[in-house]
Amino acid sequence: MKIMPNRLDKGFGMYQKEFEQKALEVLRSGWYVLGNEVKQFEEEFAAYTRTKHCVGLASGLDALWIAFRVLGIGAGDEVIVQGNTYIASVMGITMNGATPVFVEPDEYYNIDVSKIEEKITEKTKAILVVHLYGQASDMKTIMKLVQKYNLRLVEDCAQSHGACFDGKMTGTFGDIGCFSFYPSKNLGAFGDAGAIVTNDNKIAEDFRIFRNYGSEKRYYNKLVGTNSRLDELQAGLLRVRLSHMEELTEERIKLCNIYLNEIHNEQIVLPTVRKGATTVWHQFVIRCRNRQELIDYLNAKEIGTIIHYPIPPHLSEAYSYLGLNKGSMSVTERYAEEVLSIPLYNGMTLEEQKYVIKAINTFQLSD
Ligand SMILES: Cc1ncc(COP(=O)(O)O)c(C=O)c1O
Repeated sequence: MKIMPNRLDKGFGMYQKEFEQKALEVLRSGWYVLGNEVKQFEEEFAAYTRTKHCVGLASGLDALWIAFRVLGIGAGDEVIVQGNTYIASVMGITMNGATPVFVEPDEYYNIDVSKIEEKITEKTKAILVVHLYGQASDMKTIMKLVQKYNLRLVEDCAQSHGACFDGKMTGTFGDIGCFSFYPSKNLGAFGDAGAIVTNDNKIAEDFRIFRNYGSEKRYYNKLVGTNSRLDELQAGLLRVRLSHMEELTEERIKLCNIYLNEIHNEQIVLPTVRKGATTVWHQFVIRCRNRQELIDYLNAKEIGTIIHYPIPPHLSEAYSYLGLNKGSMSVTERYAEEVLSIPLYNGMTLEEQKYVIKAINTFQLSD
């Protein structure tokens, strides 16, 4: 049996008729950018996240960089972010000229809240919380710090659509919640797409203007903005997927509970869930002290895996200018060497999963 780490075709097949119908409807409408589908999607996603506003954008990265831009955070300012995130989180900060200040992750792969305070300086303007792999961060402690130091809070929810902390959805704690709808995300489009949610009227308005060349009214440009519009086709297809979000999330939870209950191997570290948090299992991430051996072993059995992420942002060439060397973030770097995402996707069969579980359970490190 051959098992890929992800199968987007299966997610399409689950609601194929609805997707095809919607695509045809949009194609025949003659209106392709910022129209009724986008408006409807924004309303429906705001309702889903229980926020006042959603603004559709072209990508998750755009959501992040425009977020700091709208908050007026730029050169000379510092933003706190966890070290073990996808590099786009950091780019959202640095594209505005601001400086990322990295904090080590905790055992749940989210920011270690006990290590934030020591990184706060008078230049610190915001915390960027990343709810990595689908699990909500410790928002109770983060909110206390945000209030104590009067900081802005941006949430990177690219991997956490629908995940909650103490019953409140990720993306709704701070000033702005940033979402990606890249095809492999839990709520995935069929191309690039993103959005922000906010309860602040002014922030929502600023995003609407900025995403459309800074124009408030056609051909009246208030500021130098960008083109980061969500198109009608993606919005329409996202509406179809969003209408099934509960069952899609339920399915991921069910699949991951099977992994949690049935993977038994002392050489593998399984993920755990924080008290008060929920996870929507964007990835099922395990750890192994000799990861390459595990990858090779699974490959030989035609089981594909992915590393999220092999090079932490502070060690990537792009951020060499920050001057952070190997060894400067020991937990982040250890995770980068040990984490492995095993196959997980909507539409995964029990047979496929049993095959993966059996393989992992019989794996043994050579030393
Ligand atoms: C944590 C995180 N932040 C930001 C992004 C950027 O989103 P996009 O690919 O839509 O630009 C992604 C995904 O790619 C992500 O996983």
